[in-house]
Amino acid sequence: MKFFIDTANIDEIRDLATTGMLDGVTTNPSLVAQSGRDFIEVLKDICATIDGPVSAEVTALDAEGMIKEGKTLAKLADNIVVKAPLTWDGLRACRALSSEGIKVNVTLCFSANQALLAAKAGAAYISPFVGRLDDIHIDGMELIEEIRAIYDNYPDLETEILVASIRNPNHVKDAAIIGADVVTIPPSVLRQLAGHPLTDKGLAAFMADWEKTGQKITG
Ligand code: G3P
Repeated sequence: MKFFIDTANIDEIRDLATTGMLDGVTTNPSLVAQSGRDFIEVLKDICATIDGPVSAEVTALDAEGMIKEGKTLAKLADNIVVKAPLTWDGLRACRALSSEGIKVNVTLCFSANQALLAAKAGAAYISPFVGRLDDIHIDGMELIEEIRAIYDNYPDLETEILVASIRNPNHVKDAAIIGADVVTIPPSVLRQLAGHPLTDKGLAAFMADWEKTGQKITG
């Protein structure tokens, strides 16, 4: 399973890249606004830091505008993936950009039929938002199960399921159990993944016992 980081904060990306766990980055207009930086500048920084796919979202609402913006974004770096919303215009733009070899991540997916449409439009990734479904008391992970089942029925559909709107470590675990291809994780949740109180307790006990031996490991 691939781990993408869901942020436009270059300091967080640089820091977490040192773990060797990052396979890509996703951004959206809200995350760019939070960064307080120029969109193009921040994308260039991210693409220079991470070799894997970097999703950059178009802001036009009509297909023609999305295609134009998508082409501009795709020219910034080889690893840019153009992100387009799951509307009919977004699907038209996805088809047009994909047919020119530009990878598209179709975002704001909340139903299995939307995911099917994105795959038929040639999307490289579909981004179902599990946390936002949970927020309205609909089980987000059920949607991931449905999309996995549908895509597995049709092996010619090559779209990867990129689970987005991840809010906690259980979302990551559940997405992995279902067999999602990618999770995009906020930095705070990614940091939580390695933590366990029994790991901390066990390590403290090992160190206390080791100190009693008076030994050191030397080269
Ligand atoms: O990048 C899209 C998605 O991950 C947003 O998450 O927490 O704003 O619903 P959230």
